[in-house]
Amino acid sequence: MDRIRIQGGRALNGTIPISGAKNAALPLMIASLLTEEKLILDNVPRLADVGLLQYILGNHGVDIMVSGKRAGDEEHAGQTFELCAKNIVDTTAPYHLVSKMRASFWVIGPLLARMGQAKVSLPGGCAIGTRPVEFHLDALRALGAEIEIEEGYVITQAKGGLRGAKISFPKVSVGATHTALLAASLARGETLIENAACEPEVLDVANCLIAMGANIEGAGTPTIRIQGAQKLHGARHSVLPDRIETGTYAMAVAMTGGDVMLAGAREDLLTAALDVLRKTGTKIAVTNEGLRVSRNGAGIAPVDVTTEPFPGFPTDLQAQFMALMTRAKGTSRIRETIFENRFMHVQELARLGAKISLDGDVATVEGVERLKGAPVMATDLRASVSLVIGGLAAEGETTVHRVYHLDRGFERLEQKLVRCGALIERVSG
Ligand code: EPZ
Repeated sequence: MDRIRIQGGRALNGTIPISGAKNAALPLMIASLLTEEKLILDNVPRLADVGLLQYILGNHGVDIMVSGKRAGDEEHAGQTFELCAKNIVDTTAPYHLVSKMRASFWVIGPLLARMGQAKVSLPGGCAIGTRPVEFHLDALRALGAEIEIEEGYVITQAKGGLRGAKISFPKVSVGATHTALLAASLARGETLIENAACEPEVLDVANCLIAMGANIEGAGTPTIRIQGAQKLHGARHSVLPDRIETGTYAMAVAMTGGDVMLAGAREDLLTAALDVLRKTGTKIAVTNEGLRVSRNGAGIAPVDVTTEPFPGFPTDLQAQFMALMTRAKGTSRIRETIFENRFMHVQELARLGAKISLDGDVATVEGVERLKGAPVMATDLRASVSLVIGGLAAEGETTVHRVYHLDRGFERLEQKLVRCGALIERVSG
C-alpha cells in the first residue's frame, strides 16, 4: 500500500492550480442518466472516486469518453467527459460498488425518474458517522415512488412515472437535495423543495440541469422550485472549482508560512472559511488569477469554529483547520455539528505532538510550539489531508499510511505541493 513521506518545516511558495470539485463532478456525472443525449462535462478532476463512478455508470450502460489532461500534466483545466446514457441496460447498483463510494447511491433518483425502477444497495457504514439515507427515500416517496428494502437493497418503482410534490427536509442534506433535484427534473408537474442544501455544488448541478432543459428556480437557496420536463437533452457544462481543495491548501500555507497563488480558486465559494483564516493572521488577496494566500513571520492566532451547512464553515475543512490550530498561539474550540464521528484525526494529530481533548462534539486544541514527525494513519479523505498539513509543519519525517483515502479527493497532491517547495513523496508498496 502506498505511503506519503514528508520532511516537514519548509514554507510553501509558488502556484497551486485548483481542480474541479469532486463533490460537483460526481452528481454531474450521475445527471447523465437523465437523458439519452450526450452530456459533456469539462474540468472533471482526475480522482479515484471519479474513476469508480465511471465504472458504476458503465455498468448501467453509460458510454463514457474521456479526453484532456493526462496524469502529470500541469494545467488546471481538467479532463473532459462525454457521457451518453442512450441505452440504460441495468437499473441495479450492487453492494460491492455502492459500499465503496456513498455518492454512487445517488444514481437512484435518475434511474427511477427515467426508467421507472431502480434497485440500489444501501451504502452501509462510514468512518465519519452513521450517514443514513432516509431523507432520500422520503423525497422519492413524496414524488410517488414505491419503496421496499430487501436484503440490503432499496427496491423502488414508480409505475406511472414520478409526479411533482412538496418535499420538506427536516435537516439540510446535500445528497438528499441532489436526489430530489435530479428526480424532480423528470417528474410530471411542479416540485417544491424546502430546507434544501445551499452548497455551491447543488447550484452547479442545477445549472447543468437547466442547460439540459430543466426548469429550476431558487437553487443555491433553501427553497427550490422545479417544473418537471418530459425529456431532458444533452448539454455542455464545466465543473466548478473545488472549494475544499482551495481551503485545504490555504490552511497548508497558513500552517507552514509562505506565499501561494491558488490559481482558479473562487472566494465566493468559501467566504466563511476565508474569514476564519484571516482571523488567524493569514493574508488572503483576491486577484484575477485566483486567491493569493500568505503568512510571513506572524504567529497563528487561535480561532473558534463551528461547522455548519453552507454558507457556514464546512465540515469538510474541519480536520484541516484543526491541524492548523495545533500550532496556534493559544487555545481554540472546534465544534462539529454535521457528522457525529468526524474526529478520527484527533488521535493521529496527537501522534505528531498535538494537544487536543474531546468532549462530545467539541475538540479543544491547545496550540503547541512545535510538532514532531511520526508515522500516522489516514482514516478518511479530509482526515488524511489534515495529517499531511501537520506533517508539512512538523520537525523531521512524517509518514502517512493508507493514502488511498487521499487519492479519492485530492488530485496530484504531492506534485502540487512539491512545486511549492514541500519535501513530500509517495512511496509505493
Ligand atoms: C456530502 O455528503 C458530501 N459528499 C460530504 O463530503 C460532505 O461532508 C457532506 O455533504 C456535508 O457537507 C459529497 O458531496 C459526495 P449530507 P452527504 O446528506 O450528502 C444527515 C467529502 O469528504 N442525514 O449533507 O452524504 C447526515 O447523517 C465528503 O468530500 C440524515 O440524517 O451529506 C449528516 O449528519 C464526506 N439522513 C447530515 O444529514 C439522510 O437521509 C448532512 O449529511 C441524509 C443525511
